[in-house]
Order: sequence, then C-alpha cells, then structure tokens
Amino acid sequence: MSTRRRWSTADVPDRTGTTAVVTGASSGIGLHLAQELARHGAHVVLAVRDPDRGIAAAARIRAQAPSVELTVRRLDLSSLASVRAGAEELRDRFPRIDLLVNNAGVMWTDRARTPDGHELQFATNHLGHFALTGLLLDSLRAASGARVVTISSYLHRLGRIDFRDLHGERRYSRYRAYNQSKLANLMFALELHHRLAESGAELASLAAHPGLAATGLGRGFPAPVRRFGSPLAPLFLQPAAAGMLPALRAATDPDARGGEFYGPLGVTETRGAPGLVRPGRTALDPQARRRLWEESERLTGVRLRP
Ligand SMILES: NC(=O)c1ccc[n+]([C@@H]2O[C@H](COP(=O)([O-])OP(=O)(O)OC[C@H]3O[C@@H](n4cnc5c(N)ncnc54)[C@H](OP(=O)(O)O)[C@@H]3O)[C@@H](O)[C@H]2O)c1
Repeated sequence: MSTRRRWSTADVPDRTGTTAVVTGASSGIGLHLAQELARHGAHVVLAVRDPDRGIAAAARIRAQAPSVELTVRRLDLSSLASVRAGAEELRDRFPRIDLLVNNAGVMWTDRARTPDGHELQFATNHLGHFALTGLLLDSLRAASGARVVTISSYLHRLGRIDFRDLHGERRYSRYRAYNQSKLANLMFALELHHRLAESGAELASLAAHPGLAATGLGRGFPAPVRRFGSPLAPLFLQPAAAGMLPALRAATDPDARGGEFYGPLGVTETRGAPGLVRPGRTALDPQARRRLWEESERLTGVRLRP
C-alpha cells in the first residue's frame, strides 16, 4: 500500500474467519480498533479488566453493527495470576488466534505496586503484555500469517530502561515510569520480531503508536494536570478513531511486515495519516533489548521462546 494516498478503514481487507484479541478494548483506541476489526468480519475478543465495562463496550459496537461477533473476557494485565487465567481460557476456546493487539495501558498513575510487587505502569503496560504474548504463542503460531501488534507511544523517545531501578523503588517519577513502559513496549515488539525472524516463524510482530488522541487515558492523571490540561486538550488531540488507525494498519495492511512501526505521519507524529515511522535510537539497542527480555522472563515467570 503506497503511503502517498491516505490509508483509511476502507483499506482493511475482509477479516471473516479470523480471531482477534484486543486488550483494553473497553475504551479509547482499543474500543475503536475492536469495532473496526469486527465490522470487517473478525471475531473479536474484548480482553478487559472490568467485564461490565467490556459488556458496555460490546453493546456500543453492536449498536452500530448488530451482526458482529464479539466475546468479552476478563483479563487484568496488572495481575500475573489474571493474565495466566485469562490466557488459559483464551487458549482453550481459540486454538488459533490470528491477531493479538497489546493495547491496554495506564498513564502517569500514582506510585503503586501490583499484587506481584511490580510498579503499576511497567507491569500493566509491559510485563502483562509480555506474559500474555508468551502464553498465547501456541495459538498465534497455529494461525497462518498471524500478527502481534504492540502499542507504544511517541514518548518512548524520552524513555530509558533503568535496569537498576525498574520499579522506581529508589526514586519514583510517574512520567519516567510511563516513558520507560512505552519504550519497553517498542523494544519488546522489535525484539520479538528479531527472534521470530531468526527462528523462521511465520508469525509477525509489529508496533504502533496513536499520536495524541482523545481517550480515557487522562483518568489516571494527577488532578492539577487534568484541571489545566482539559481546556487545552481539544487543541492538540485527534479523535480516538483517528488515533486508532496506525494500529489498525499494522494489524491488517497486507503489505505491512514484521519489525515495522506505524504512527501518524504529521509533524511530530501527533496526528495525521497512518504510516511508517522510525523508532527512537534507544529502542534499537540490541543488548538492552536482550536484557529487557531476560528481566521480563524473570519477573513474569513466563519463558517466551518464539
Ligand atoms: N491516547 C493517546 O494519546 C495515547 C498516546 C500514546 C500512546 N497511547 C497508548 O494507547 C493505548 C490505549 O490507551 P487509550 O489512549 O485508548 O486510553 P484508554 O481510553 O484509557 O484505554 C486504556 C484501556 O486499557 C485498559 N486497562 C487499563 N488498565 C488495565 C489492566 N490492568 N488490565 C486490563 N486493561 C487495562 C482500560 O480499561 P478500563 O476501561 O477498565 O479503564 C482501557 O480499556 C495505551 O497503551 C496507551 O499508552 C495513547
């Protein structure tokens, strides 16, 4: 697909007969993505931490397109026990999964620990998705031409993986923790691609980021940021449906390839048509990617061997 013409939802091929799992599909990018995939025929699993919000999201999608195939499954990415239980259910029900979108996320949360003792943003955004991908690998390998799409952020460029203090125990900054988690998302997607390519697997790993989009992500922001940010937000944010397009393109464009990173093509990548963008330099460091992978295996107890 040429990047000269603006890529849109009209370019999505028929997905009938495929199964897609979208994490965080109860709101924002995940909800819009689930809706488009379902509209194009995919059976979409809305993997959500709160089943009531998942059921409400499914109802919103069905109100637009009554005949779509949707399943709601509970999966709390901040708890490894929940990820294991959710993945087991998914594996039993879907021996073949054609698409996994690692989308769910939290941003700028107060300092908090998960039940596993990990920092909340790193755990939810990165570790939970690392474990989920590993636990669903057999189902993904069983589908021909399957893809894993992991959602990062432009802010990954400000990120640094602090291997001496991954959980912000010495010094916690909500901003640094988010940037670290989003860099980890991109490093994971690229390292997964590298390992899949080395093993000759057909499964592809890609990454995407939405630019700046009006979603529910601000719910975790500190009150002063919400108060001063809200009036200005419409000036900078594109609609969630537009922010979803890079992920949709990574997930469905027949010309997209493993190892690619999609984002909005406008200046500073905050908005614009979805196309190929470049990862920041730190995401390309092979040694750091290997180290993050090993740490993630250790922290989750999931050995991810593509
Ligand atoms: N919006 C942007 O401008 C922007 C920019 C860069 C990157 N991103 C990334 O885009 C992705 C989607 O975010 P969004 O903007 O669409 O925000 P959103 O509307 O808040 O959606 C986030 C989703 O993640 C879910 N979630 C949060 N914690 C979870 C957990 N522990 N387990 C399972 N699901 C959980 C939320 O569930 P609930 O409905 O239960 O809260 C919600 O469905 C995130 O990875 C975010 O980092 C967004």
